[in-house]
Amino acid sequence: MIEITNITKTYITGDIKFDALKGVNFDIKDGEFVAIMGPSGSGKSTLMHILGALDTPTSGRYRLDGQDVSRLSEDSLADIRRDRIGFVFQSFNLLPRTTVLRNVMLPLVYAKIPDAERTKRAKEALKAAGLDEDHFYHKSNQLSGGQIQRVAIARALVNNPSLILADEPTGNLDTKTGDIVLGTFQRLNEEQGKTIILITHEHDVAEHADRIISIRDGEVVSDHRQHQKRVVIRNK
Ligand SMILES: Nc1ncnc2c1ncn2[C@@H]1O[C@H](COP(=O)(O)OP(=O)(O)O)[C@@H](O)[C@H]1O
Ligand SMILES: [Mg+2]
Repeated sequence: MIEITNITKTYITGDIKFDALKGVNFDIKDGEFVAIMGPSGSGKSTLMHILGALDTPTSGRYRLDGQDVSRLSEDSLADIRRDRIGFVFQSFNLLPRTTVLRNVMLPLVYAKIPDAERTKRAKEALKAAGLDEDHFYHKSNQLSGGQIQRVAIARALVNNPSLILADEPTGNLDTKTGDIVLGTFQRLNEEQGKTIILITHEHDVAEHADRIISIRDGEVVSDHRQHQKRVVIRNK
């Protein structure tokens, strides 16, 4: 589904050039749950912006479902994001004084879907993200950190994307709440076959995925599968 070939990204600020990605290669198949792990400044967010069609690489090729998305216009990138990708960020980006349900319906406004259908889909997404129905009509600033992140996951699911990209989704959560959120990603991967790319600087977080791609200074330094993960989680 995802083929990344020799991707580079060079940021130019004034006359200073910085190579944030220096030739990254990997493939990710449909239904994989992959963590991209690396220390701060290693290029994780840069890579996530390219994978999420929020930005294009300086050179190299990115193919998503067989389509070359490395050289598309801003409008075409926006279509890809709307139709195929769900995003979960560390800063949850919810509207604070707006209800949970409205926050989740927001991405559908642009998809020209009738209100009743939007409500139905938002409720389904919230259930899939594991939020209790009692909270659907609460304002998002009345929720706990873990509940807010479930709403953010629901919002990422509401367009029914095949790919979910999460950038440090547990960065603002305590360990226990973070584990619940990571469990939600595992369930979405196992039960709904969603492809999940989880970006993190923490090994404990990356271990929830089936495969860990480590990056450092803009380069992949290791890429391996974990076979024990499911067993470890079940025994917890
Ligand atoms: N817009 C930008 N302009 C210039 N440099 C940038 C920009 N975005 C990121 N960088 C630099 O690129 C490197 C990688 O950044 P980033 O992808 O955010 O890493 P990470 O998410 O792993 O912390 C960092 O050194 C950062 O300072
Ligand atoms: Mg980052």
